[in-house]
Amino acid sequence: MNKQHRVMVAGGTGLVGSALVRRLHAGGYANVLAPTRQTLDVADAAAVRAYLQQHQPDVLFIAAAKVGGIQANNTHRADFLLDNLRIQTSLIGGAHEAGIQRLMFLGSSCIYPRMAVQPITEDALLTGPLEPTNEPYAVAKIAGIKLCEAMAHQHGRAYVSVMPTNLYGPGDHYDLATSHVLPALIRKVHEAKQRGEAAVPVWGTGTPRREFLFVDDLADACVYLMEQAYAGPLLNIGTGEDISICELTELVMSVVGHTGHLQFDTSQPDGTPRKLLDVSRLTALGWQARTSMREGIALAYADYLARFG
Ligand SMILES: NC(=O)c1ccc[n+]([C@@H]2O[C@H](COP(=O)([O-])OP(=O)(O)OC[C@H]3O[C@@H](n4cnc5c(N)ncnc54)[C@H](OP(=O)(O)O)[C@@H]3O)[C@@H](O)[C@H]2O)c1
Repeated sequence: MNKQHRVMVAGGTGLVGSALVRRLHAGGYANVLAPTRQTLDVADAAAVRAYLQQHQPDVLFIAAAKVGGIQANNTHRADFLLDNLRIQTSLIGGAHEAGIQRLMFLGSSCIYPRMAVQPITEDALLTGPLEPTNEPYAVAKIAGIKLCEAMAHQHGRAYVSVMPTNLYGPGDHYDLATSHVLPALIRKVHEAKQRGEAAVPVWGTGTPRREFLFVDDLADACVYLMEQAYAGPLLNIGTGEDISICELTELVMSVVGHTGHLQFDTSQPDGTPRKLLDVSRLTALGWQARTSMREGIALAYADYLARFG
């Protein structure tokens, strides 16, 4: 991929897609296509085919998906499976039909078995049962990875898949019914501060450890890999470091400026004790995350305040 290329970002209004668009513009890409849902329903195979034939992008990033937290995933199981399968097959199949040679598909770390050895290497894929709460979403994502691999194998396409860890940053979702853990904590801490409540509710014991990557770092990694013409197997993208939910909450409180205390609700489940990606393959390719968690949370909180404060 180079700056003369016409680059399309599917899902360009989302958390990941908008970061990709920012990174491409900042990197001097003048020909970026990021159709909104109103312009193009990416689950509609015929519409996608027509759009790709008309616009002929050289490169396609697939950051469009139906995404949500545990509750949404577990409740709308059929929607998560069906919508994601539709989105992926219309975009990956349509890209091939339109002759697009280079594509990056974004998956998620929930594709790995729930009891995978930590840190999780790419080789853990399909070695054990998935986490039941988001199994339909994970199965759809695994199908997308396998479709990219098959396109590469059968048709020689450079269709690659990357697996980002938990992401956060500008453009994130703060609806408590559907949001991920870090944006939910930012909102809960902000609201506790505003109401003058000392106690910040934390689900579970606070001991599980998780990894978080600032979304602009993810976008940088994706562009870096495409510029290097990466055409290898499935690749994890993360920081290689994890943090306990307890430490994370304290960090959010420090950034938000709330001097309360944590109140653990141990009636809520902890989930898996640790989830950390092994990023040694990515590091060997010469890329590393740059934004510290404190910096990243400060930038995310500034965006939250600008949009909802
Ligand atoms: N967020 C994370 O922590 C995380 C972690 C790992 C991997 N990922 C992966 O990154 C990718 C993007 O996630 P995200 O967090 O950026 O999600 P997001 O903020 O919900 O963005 C999803 C994007 O897809 C678009 N979209 C969905 N269905 C569409 C349709 N039928 N037609 C047109 N556009 C459609 C959305 O448009 P609207 O805005 O109009 O709905 C939005 O632009 C996903 O594959 C996800 O698995 C995310």
